[in-house]
Amino acid sequence: MTQELTSPSPAPQAAGPDRGRGWWRDAVIYQVYVRSFSDSDGDGIGDLRGVRERLPHLKDLGVDAVWLTPFYASPQADGGYDVADYRAVDPLFGTLADADDLIRTAHALGLRVIVDIVPNHTSDRHPWFTDPELARQRYVFRPGKGTRGELPPNDWESVFGGPAWTRTDRGDWYLHLFAPEQPDLDWERPEVHEEFAAILRFWLDLGVDGFRIDVAHGMVKAPGLPDIGHGAQARLIGSQVLPFFDQDGVHAIHRTWRRLLDGHREAGGREVIGVAEAWAPSAERLALYVRPDELHQAFNFQFLSAPWDADALRGVIDSSLAATVAVGAPTTWVLSNHDVVRHTTRLGGLARARAATLLMLALPGSAYLYQGEELGLPEVTDLPAEVRQDPAFFRGNGQGGDGASAADGSGDGGQDGFRDGCRVPLPWSGALPPYGFGPGGSWLPQPADWGRLSVAAQTGDPSSTLELYRGALELRRRLPGLGDGEMAWQPAPEGVLAVRRPGMLCTVNTRPGDVEIPLPGELLLASAPVAAGGTSAVLPGDSCVWWAI
Ligand code: GLC
Repeated sequence: MTQELTSPSPAPQAAGPDRGRGWWRDAVIYQVYVRSFSDSDGDGIGDLRGVRERLPHLKDLGVDAVWLTPFYASPQADGGYDVADYRAVDPLFGTLADADDLIRTAHALGLRVIVDIVPNHTSDRHPWFTDPELARQRYVFRPGKGTRGELPPNDWESVFGGPAWTRTDRGDWYLHLFAPEQPDLDWERPEVHEEFAAILRFWLDLGVDGFRIDVAHGMVKAPGLPDIGHGAQARLIGSQVLPFFDQDGVHAIHRTWRRLLDGHREAGGREVIGVAEAWAPSAERLALYVRPDELHQAFNFQFLSAPWDADALRGVIDSSLAATVAVGAPTTWVLSNHDVVRHTTRLGGLARARAATLLMLALPGSAYLYQGEELGLPEVTDLPAEVRQDPAFFRGNGQGGDGASAADGSGDGGQDGFRDGCRVPLPWSGALPPYGFGPGGSWLPQPADWGRLSVAAQTGDPSSTLELYRGALELRRRLPGLGDGEMAWQPAPEGVLAVRRPGMLCTVNTRPGDVEIPLPGELLLASAPVAAGGTSAVLPGDSCVWWAI
């Protein structure tokens, strides 16, 4: 590593009133799925230089931080969530110097950078796993059942389908909650704890501002690895604590990491956050991950899973806020990510997606955006089998459902149950694929009509989804109370939500038809054309409007 790499660039300075309380409490954080964002070298796969070159787009969009999905050395059995070396950049994505450049450029633009840490499992190509002796000490190996050990040690199923156990040619079995190429680490071993603390320090030294903790609810398994009961897993996952998810023991790990992050700040470093990707059965159990001595944020998948219905949305918003207020943490909101059906498709069309986004950005707390949602991209539902890469597709766990994740096992990972359809490379410009994604092709085929959805095509068009996002994020900055201030529901007609925020009223019509309401104030921003005049306004079907009050 060069000398330059060892002195991290300063994090962006807090701006505006009251920003010293924690930049992350109301931050809008943009998820970059590196492989599909922007390709600088023409191999059809997005890379870190591509991300760096496109950072001005994120600056113009108005986000506060960027979360980069894993770009570490990896055989790519699960899009990089199978890490072989946590301190190296995969040549597909560039070099460590490119990561350093990217962090520095982001900081210079006033953007923070969050990286993804994968502690539940490594790649089966990780040097700990390829060494049979080390592997036995650091992963979850058990003898099989049956007269000759020919049956798996218990009845757990992989989130991607099939048994959660694979037998080695030595005759014993190892646990993998995900693909067989992703063996689960044994978090009862002190070496595992020490290694991950060292990995966090490595990236802290490189200047990152946060860690998204992959499968933060999975590292600790119930003692004795008990059976769940024949056929019960699919029914119980997502609604109950299972012997491998959301065990109370995981919280001790998160407490240790919080001390490490706080220690960094106390030693004069930046305020670095931990974000839990945790699928907990209730808002209350999710809130345990963001107690004051644990992680800073947790993804709120309850909001993402809510149907497009006023009562359901209000219920989820209330329970999310109540659970996090009880532990003193801000809530997070998210509608799309690389594991779920894009919300344009999941909610039933662009009108609803635009409205849902405006509602999300009007709520107190921090919001996560997934690349391409600012373009209103739909899920790509017709990818041929030969281009698919999602391991869930090959292991068969693509059951339809509520639009939640294939990775949590609770539902649908794509319109057809898989996750490639939300990972199609972004259209930047031009009328033909790869639409400026890079000088070569794109690792998944892009639809023939995506030219009209490109960043270039939407820029400057006031009716475009891109300009709607830009406008909303600009208003969020202008009305600082929006991120972290008071919120109160106002009376509203059936099917309509009205949320009062500092300086603003947000109205959402979840029904398909127009609804007339008394004019709340001056129109600030709307997801669809609004007729307002005299003393009343007409809210179009499936719309959200922000009013100055
Ligand atoms: C998380 C990731 C997902 C991955 C899984 C296993 O759920 O978001 O993409 O497949 O963890 O690492």
